[in-house]
Amino acid sequence: MAIGPADRGQWGSRLGFILAAVGSAVGLGNMWRFPYQMAEAGGAAFLILYIFLMFLIGLPIMLAEFSVGRGAKRSPIAALAHFGGPKWKPLGLLFVVTGFMILAYYGVIAGWVLRYTGAFLVTGVVNDPGGTFEAYATGPWAIGMQIAFMAITIGIVYGGVQKGIERAALVLMPLLFAIVAGLAVYAATLDGAGAGYAYYFQTDFSEILDFGVLTSAAGQAFFSLSLGMGAMLTFASYLKRDDDLPQQSGIIAGADFMVAFVAGLMIFPLIFALGLQDQVGESTVGALFITLPQAFANMGDVAGRIVGFLFFAALLVGALTSAISLLEVVTSTAIDSLGWTRAKATLIMGAGITLIGVPCAISLDFLTLYDEIAGELFLVIGALGIAIFVGWIMPNAEAEAAKGSAFGWSIPPWRMLLKFVVPPVILIVLIYQAISTFNVISGMFGG
Ligand code: PHE
Repeated sequence: MAIGPADRGQWGSRLGFILAAVGSAVGLGNMWRFPYQMAEAGGAAFLILYIFLMFLIGLPIMLAEFSVGRGAKRSPIAALAHFGGPKWKPLGLLFVVTGFMILAYYGVIAGWVLRYTGAFLVTGVVNDPGGTFEAYATGPWAIGMQIAFMAITIGIVYGGVQKGIERAALVLMPLLFAIVAGLAVYAATLDGAGAGYAYYFQTDFSEILDFGVLTSAAGQAFFSLSLGMGAMLTFASYLKRDDDLPQQSGIIAGADFMVAFVAGLMIFPLIFALGLQDQVGESTVGALFITLPQAFANMGDVAGRIVGFLFFAALLVGALTSAISLLEVVTSTAIDSLGWTRAKATLIMGAGITLIGVPCAISLDFLTLYDEIAGELFLVIGALGIAIFVGWIMPNAEAEAAKGSAFGWSIPPWRMLLKFVVPPVILIVLIYQAISTFNVISGMFGG
């Protein structure tokens, strides 16, 4: 039996909700995946494509998730059943499984971030970043750090919507904005920063005509905006009735984009000014965990230590507020659908997720596998599902989205996009992504 609205958590303030949702959106995807994708896939051309996709499919899906969540005031499975009947429960289940799997590997990467943050704070710049990363990435230490990070996440979600999640977001998100902006300004003052900007913005319009680039830009938009797995749906289920959903979707997507964009303005000038341009094309994981620590080491002991600590602290904050939203999807489902208490739900689900993530801390092949399946493929399927659901199935979707909004004019075109434009675009992305996921998996087991 679903728990009635009165028993559920609720945000204490509008800002609290917005920052928690921005916290979900802003994470490793912004500070790691976006800048590299942009630099590798056409620079300014990619930027234009990404912004276009954000308006065309990202924002509509966010508003769709918000409408379902606020309208039903239930966690994903119960919310979909509420508006669409029991045959829509599997989509909700897919959301929960996706959240479970993403957090399983996300917690491992966040564990590395935690260790780097601690290392810069306690012992200073890391020498031999390549060897350091190898030592950090897998093994008992990686598992230990993953457990430590998950324990912090579980602790915050255990506190509930207002006392845990909202309070954390109100403190952590302004901190993250300040650090990222501060480091981007600092990076601009370095000699040779210009080469970094030139690399970031080098424009190649032929890249964006490639379906692979379209797919990765769309996938990045879903991942970065936390769409397609019920995180935004769940957060909106704690809203009061009168919030302006179209306006808040715009603010949240805008903030997410700004952080991703500014992260590039911070990363590339740092790398180029410190003479590491020849390492820039290597793997994205390497860029974040090897090239940047090398750049910090090249800055000298004091400056490198401060900048390195601040950088990893910001990354840690981003990862933490995203992990919170992933765990909240699973937790709220256990509360609503299994009738568990929040304490039981956070502890048992948090422990289960940690356990399922342990293989990723033993072999990076598992990490890649989980990411391909949940982070790339399931998110796209989930996004397609929610678009079709709100476009075609949910009764009164337009009235729910428009409630309390000063942007009523945007609602009919929004529904048209959900009905006719978003599904075919995502379908193309989905086919492409399914092939790529299949190739990665078969390469892994066949090769
Ligand atoms: N948006 C987060 C990031 O960019 C990741 C995430 C995906 C969080 C899906 C919640 C749900 O890192």
